[in-house]
Amino acid sequence: MCGIVGYTGKQEATPIILEGLRKLEYRGYDSAGVCVINAGHASIRRSEGKLANLDKLLSENPTSGEIGIGHTRWATHGRPSERNAHPHQAGSIIVVHNGIIENYLELKKRLKDLGRDFKSDTDTEVISHIIDEKLKETCRFEEAVRLALQELRGAYALCILCESEPGTLIAAKKGSPMVVGLGENEYFVASDIPAILAHTREMVFMEDGEMVVFRDGKAAFSSIAGKPLDKTPRHIDWSPLMAEKGGYRHFMLKEIFEQPRAIRDTIAGRLAEEEGTVHLEELKIPDADLAGIDRIFIVACGTSWHAALVGKFLIEEHCRIPVEVDIASEFRYRKPIVNDKTLMVLISQSGETADTLAALREGKARGAKNVAICNVVDSSIARESNGVIYTHAGPEIGVASTKAFITQLVALYLFTIKLGRTIGTIEREKGKAMVSALIHVPVLLERVLELNPQLEKIARSYMHARDFLYLGRGINYPIALEGALKLKEISYIHAEGYPAGEMKHGPIALIDENMPVVVLAPKTESYEKVVSNMEEVIARGGLVIAICSEGDAEISAKAQDTIKIPMESEGLTPILLSIPLQLLAYHIAVLKGTDVDQPRNLAKSVTVE
Ligand code: AGP
Repeated sequence: MCGIVGYTGKQEATPIILEGLRKLEYRGYDSAGVCVINAGHASIRRSEGKLANLDKLLSENPTSGEIGIGHTRWATHGRPSERNAHPHQAGSIIVVHNGIIENYLELKKRLKDLGRDFKSDTDTEVISHIIDEKLKETCRFEEAVRLALQELRGAYALCILCESEPGTLIAAKKGSPMVVGLGENEYFVASDIPAILAHTREMVFMEDGEMVVFRDGKAAFSSIAGKPLDKTPRHIDWSPLMAEKGGYRHFMLKEIFEQPRAIRDTIAGRLAEEEGTVHLEELKIPDADLAGIDRIFIVACGTSWHAALVGKFLIEEHCRIPVEVDIASEFRYRKPIVNDKTLMVLISQSGETADTLAALREGKARGAKNVAICNVVDSSIARESNGVIYTHAGPEIGVASTKAFITQLVALYLFTIKLGRTIGTIEREKGKAMVSALIHVPVLLERVLELNPQLEKIARSYMHARDFLYLGRGINYPIALEGALKLKEISYIHAEGYPAGEMKHGPIALIDENMPVVVLAPKTESYEKVVSNMEEVIARGGLVIAICSEGDAEISAKAQDTIKIPMESEGLTPILLSIPLQLLAYHIAVLKGTDVDQPRNLAKSVTVE
């Protein structure tokens, strides 16, 4: 949540910061602001609403300077408004912040008692005041920041400027992501890689409790307490183009269509077809230890949690190890029973979700082994977990997750094969069949994507519905949940996902002739049961949109609308079924005129608890 960008070098800072903020707008978009310093004078521009408003303001009232900071906000404390937009200035100090300062009320009271006047309702403003107070004591910017940071509780990624030391930019991190880009005689700081990818591929990932001081053309990394640090840059091979729309109207649509490529990249170099297994050295768990695991917890939020639910079906069926799936924000507070025979699998596209990160730390503290499934290289969760299975979806910009989800399913499938082959529950021939089915999926997915025009047409028929129900069974029940989440996230239509067999225990009361019900009915083990559930809907006048296997005449004869997809083995149906649901949600949202890539109230990366 919230995106921050900083720049210091020999170029005009404002355009670089704005361009970076544009790439970070998915992190929050209720207000935005910049500050540049020129000849010891700070120019701040802030505006409510999207970045376009700030752009307009800057064209009417430009700024100039070669050092600056910027922010795009997702409100936590204080409603979206210009006065709550960052940067916040107090005296000489100007701050942009991502995170939450938990003790801000206590600090604010103390600062008010000292006669300090607050101009916003944010927690962030206390940071600028407290640094400015320390500056009065020490007269040194860097020292003032170090002292002030020791008084903050909570999470932050900060970029800080000082009018009385106009050539210095300081950035600090604790609990919120931050990456530093190394250019030629210039430096960039940002919350996320895409913001600065157009300028450099050499990046340093900051750890919690670290800060960096950019001064006199140099970057000095240290701990907040002042211990110098030698940080090694990483080369990032994402291309800047991967973070562009590439001719599509929305990032979401582009990302939906990228899914065959994303799957190919995720399985590339990992399959051993002949041996019927996969290589996942990145698990970093010796086979002997894998064999000793007696329970698995998969922990995640949102869409990643839906992937986790699919993972439970896969692992329990093929590996016969009990799996518990937890919503990350619940996991850490329910005193989970884990020990060194427990494996925790943390799933997160961004690798920065605060709840998932906290669950990882909780599990580690209780002695569990852990592995992450992440998309963003070197993100906090990726760095803090013992092993990482990267999903190689490439940067996902649309707030509604699509290609990251699909590749999470692929990663879980790979993990299942690896685990099953290691502990002997999947023998070689079965492993070969599973691997070859997976190889075939991208081609099938390309065929499913050809259904796009049909889904647009169906979307037109149902776009005015007030509510939607999604039903699935077994391994496809989580896909019903995901279909409903996609629709509500971007179209703002109320939608519920249910296990089809559970419908008669309550939700059936909602069904009438205005209720579209999306039924996932591929030819799997539970097919006949799903058909019966569909009949129950039809009998009550509900409008059925069925997604079934190619060649299924029975369903076509009964449902209002039928979408037919090619079938693979049951374990891979969640991947194929997800695509029509993504496209249906996308087209309904476009027809309703919502902001598909940046739906209201949401942020791509939820770095607050
Ligand atoms: C997905 O469409 C959502 N925007 C959201 O539920 C997301 O999956 C969730 O916030 C978890 O994010 P993560 O995968 O980056 O941890």
